Amino acid sequence: MNPADLPRSILVVGSGGREHALVQAFAASPARPRVLCAPGNAGIAADADCFPVKADDVAGLVELALREKAEFVVVGPEAPLSLGLADRLAGAGIPVYGPSAKGARLEASKTFTKRLLIKHGIPTADAAFFGETAAALDYLRSRRTPIVVKADGLAAGKGVVVAKTLKEAEAAVKGMIEGGKFGTGGRQILIEDCLEGEETSILVVVSGWEYVILPTSQDHKRIGDGDKGPNTGGMGAYSPAEVVTPALMEAIERTIVRPSVAAIASEGIDFCGTLFIGIMLTAQGPKVLEFNTRFGDPETQAVLPRLATDPLDLLWAAAKGALGGYRIKVRPGYAICVVLSAMGYPEYYPTGDAIEIPLVLPADVAVLHAGTARDAAGRLVTAGGRVLGVTAVAGSLAEAAARAYRTCESIHFASKYYRRDIGARQLRRV
Ligand code: AMP
Ligand code: GLY
Repeated sequence: MNPADLPRSILVVGSGGREHALVQAFAASPARPRVLCAPGNAGIAADADCFPVKADDVAGLVELALREKAEFVVVGPEAPLSLGLADRLAGAGIPVYGPSAKGARLEASKTFTKRLLIKHGIPTADAAFFGETAAALDYLRSRRTPIVVKADGLAAGKGVVVAKTLKEAEAAVKGMIEGGKFGTGGRQILIEDCLEGEETSILVVVSGWEYVILPTSQDHKRIGDGDKGPNTGGMGAYSPAEVVTPALMEAIERTIVRPSVAAIASEGIDFCGTLFIGIMLTAQGPKVLEFNTRFGDPETQAVLPRLATDPLDLLWAAAKGALGGYRIKVRPGYAICVVLSAMGYPEYYPTGDAIEIPLVLPADVAVLHAGTARDAAGRLVTAGGRVLGVTAVAGSLAEAAARAYRTCESIHFASKYYRRDIGARQLRRV
């Protein structure tokens, strides 16, 4: 698209590393738009005009977009989408990238998505649905372990238990159905077969029946090196994920992406936004683990630097229903994002630690902010579990990792913690 046809002001909703990556990408667009963010964080404030409206304050965000004359809104996190932010913005005549509340159910309800996948013959783990304990426990006893128990509804990544033993699975079922452990996420549950293989994240820009697949990436969900310890929002990512060979990508597109986009459109869901497909590469072929209806964090931080296409142009084309025939250009080379978290995350962690970042960063390295803020004295301090993301691009993954890790060492805050093995699995393969 001609840069003159792109929006002149964009509001990004959210406050994490993903949103910082989007803000920087939009700020670098040849269209030179004004970039706004709500609520943003201390680092985003250097690249966008930030407004203290929370990401789940739907009415406040619509009001902000109107007042600031935002010509385009790009929504980062899932919560406002589930609350109908995209519907409300569309109602106010503001183009938005991010699905309607109906579309967001693909992330918000695991039972809804599982039924859709089964109905349309899209490969996924076999599953059964339960709303009461006795039947669920009976079913469990008829299955083999390991087995996976999932609570319906958004549970901030905590609604999935991969149970190694029957005892563990029984406890998960009781906790979810009776314990109200997962808030409104509980009650309805799914019990599904455990899939084995490597996971990959496929981000797809969707507009109705049209779609564009973004470069592959792989997240590192566990807190500890060697994929040990509890699940987190994501501790690092790299792109491309070479485990997805061209032949596998072809199979993923043919058996999963194309039928999923068609299934969603044919169910009457007018989906404009990112369909993030979590895939397990099993010996029987790729299978869907989950859908998210937004960009991944930290996958986005590793994928966007590889696009030679202007991301604003791509997302605007999606919002305008102009994705048919759209081709993206991808830069050769590799990108990595290493997340610096506060020690204790994903459980209890301190905040308010002073952060020092070198003023001059090496070429091809960027520091994206997630949980950062300014204290009363104006100092940069930690304010969340995931604090910063260090991204680097290079001709090889080894070089990208080396660059990112050198910068991780040169950043200081008292509670700094990070995984030392982002990308290691792929590096071991070469
Ligand atoms: P979900 O929120 O559905 O992606 O689940 C979170 C994580 O649980 C996934 O990223 C997988 O690591 C794991 N998981 C979910 N479903 C399964 C399954 N059927 N088999 C094995 N692991 C799974
Ligand atoms: N990195 C996984 C997610 O964004 O859900």
